[in-house]
Amino acid sequence: MSTTLPDYQNDTAYHRPVMLRECLEGLDLQPGGRYVDVTFGGGGHSARILERLTTGHLYSFDQDADAEQEAQKLARPQFTFIRSNFRDLYTALQQRGALPVDGLLADLGVSSHQFDTPERGFSTRFDGPLDMRMNAEDGDTSASDIINEYSEADLHRIFGMYGEVTNARTLAATVVAARRGQTISTIAGLKKAIASVTPRGKENKYLAQVFQALRIEANDEMTALQEMLTQTAQVLRPGGRLVVMSYHSLEDRLVKNFIAKGKFFGEVEKDLFGRTNVPFDALTRKPVEASDEEVALNPRARSAKLRIAVKNE
Ligand SMILES: C[S@@+](CC[C@H](N)C(=O)[O-])C[C@H]1O[C@@H](n2cnc3c(N)ncnc32)[C@H](O)[C@@H]1O
Repeated sequence: MSTTLPDYQNDTAYHRPVMLRECLEGLDLQPGGRYVDVTFGGGGHSARILERLTTGHLYSFDQDADAEQEAQKLARPQFTFIRSNFRDLYTALQQRGALPVDGLLADLGVSSHQFDTPERGFSTRFDGPLDMRMNAEDGDTSASDIINEYSEADLHRIFGMYGEVTNARTLAATVVAARRGQTISTIAGLKKAIASVTPRGKENKYLAQVFQALRIEANDEMTALQEMLTQTAQVLRPGGRLVVMSYHSLEDRLVKNFIAKGKFFGEVEKDLFGRTNVPFDALTRKPVEASDEEVALNPRARSAKLRIAVKNE
């Protein structure tokens, strides 16, 4: 299916949607269909999905209060915004009588708006509180809680695993030494505390990795993703489309394994007759990546990996 939609030029001040055309094609949109966007953000993808619906309906999730505010701009009978973590996907849709659905889109990670708001604490470019919670109201752990309260072993684990920080052990020890007798509660405070182990000339890349690790942990992103993906098998009708875009290798590996094997780790399970029970068929063996043209306009698209699958009959 091809569309005449403009794609990467459809940005809003809130967020510029990545691989818009590819995502919409992946969803195989039908005007009367029922769709879910589990990561509304600035509504870049949601707005375009809605444009295509006549009798259909779109349910969009986001756990962020600013996204909820933004969603009011799209108010119309075909649209329902759900302020919730996407780990509650099945229940939230069931409560609204919205099952099964024809397609589900997930555009993981944070929005440009979250990233560019200094008080949210996501970006190394500003000073601000060490927060990084996407849903600042639900009492989840903030980045500051992690820095000040986690054990050295846990800090080592998250810096290594979620940030792929090469000197994760030294970094964890440095944080633990720096927090003795004081609380590290700001971005500037953290940068100063770890300056001695931040590689010269590679500060930006290094800090981005450290911040990525804190963000993933603060929002429990890996668990939420696994819980949401597991529920997609119950939420999508047979023949329905699963469209997931991720921005780092750990996420993409979970998505890839889930589509290929129906599970996140280990091998495909077979019954006594050698039959498998994998709920999806991949429509893209390799992940789709953004065009050079899109990446030139939107550097955030560079790391995006899009995977599309169809629910088995
Ligand atoms: C990359 S942005 C989505 C951008 C959107 N596709 C657009 O083009 O405007 C990701 C959004 O998903 C939300 N999000 C991330 N993880 C979530 C989760 N577990 N539950 C609900 N929302 C989540 C974030 O708050 C953020 O607004």
